[in-house]
Amino acid sequence: MTQSLTLRRPDDWHLHLRDGAMLEGVLPETTRHFARAIVMPNLVPPVVTAAEAQAYRDRILKALPAGARFEPLMVLYLTETTDPADVRAAAASGLVTAVKLYPAGATTNSASGVRDFDRVRGVLETMAEIGLPLCVHGEVTDPAVDIFDREAVFLDRVLDPIRRATPGLRVVLEHVTTREGLDYVRGGGPDMAGTLTTHHLIINRNHILAGGIRPHYYCLPVAKRETHRLALRAAATGGEACFFLGTDSAPHVDAAKESGCGCAGCFTATNTLPILAHVFEEEGALDRLEGFVSLHGPAFYRLPPNEERITLRKGEALALPARIETGAGPVTVFDPGFPLLWHVEP
Ligand code: DOR
Ligand code: ZN
Repeated sequence: MTQSLTLRRPDDWHLHLRDGAMLEGVLPETTRHFARAIVMPNLVPPVVTAAEAQAYRDRILKALPAGARFEPLMVLYLTETTDPADVRAAAASGLVTAVKLYPAGATTNSASGVRDFDRVRGVLETMAEIGLPLCVHGEVTDPAVDIFDREAVFLDRVLDPIRRATPGLRVVLEHVTTREGLDYVRGGGPDMAGTLTTHHLIINRNHILAGGIRPHYYCLPVAKRETHRLALRAAATGGEACFFLGTDSAPHVDAAKESGCGCAGCFTATNTLPILAHVFEEEGALDRLEGFVSLHGPAFYRLPPNEERITLRKGEALALPARIETGAGPVTVFDPGFPLLWHVEP
């Protein structure tokens, strides 16, 4: 029985770090284990221009814990007035690694996102030309579409038309939650990839709603039926290069989650690797964990994998904090509902 596992240091291809006191509080939770992360730009106000991405990057670097080696990979928030020339320059200088498409109103701080996809055609064409990936929040916002169907409908109504109209556009369908999403990524060829979160491998919609409403399991896209969760686990642990880890770790203070209108987001930065080791071991796929967390992502983003290694060891159940304290308030850590036996060695 495998008791220890050495991997290239992982990366997180979808992460919310926020700003200010929250940034300071959550950043060490990621830098402890991860070498790089794609940092989401949905701040208030959003990170739209290269200058804003530069300033945000500087704030992240300033907040790094002493001795941490961590590279934030910056992302521009796509709006209907984004300037293709600004995107081109930001990519050419190496400042940004991707652009993020939020359909307006789809999720937290997405109000400045895109309503009319024709209005971002010029930016998407520039991105296809220079090979800059588009990270996509794949849900329609049409109130007539059931929230559990919003990802599948997005593929037909929005993503497929965009990809057909923009040959060569490199796309990451983020936080895939459905079989339809998985199949779409699988059929998309080399310019298409999908990220999978930690929490969507663990919870289905019953965890949120059965036996009481559990706000710390609420996120967007919302967890779906068990059949979808099982398909996500098979995709994560199956060794397919088009799928890799993007935790979507999304901290909100407890008061904002435990409320009459609670925010979407699961905070998994603290315990993602122990949870994933548990999942991959259960699926008899520990030998594929490195691909999922350390190799497939860099390959898609055309970046070298990390040279540094980390070691995971199986032992006594970990005593991880149920919440972390930040200057903005306490943040509850995602509870996978089982003891965590895998530790990342310090
Ligand atoms: O659950 C989520 N939380 N989904 C998102 O798309 C945004 C994120 C956030 O920023 O809190
Ligand atoms: Zn996110």
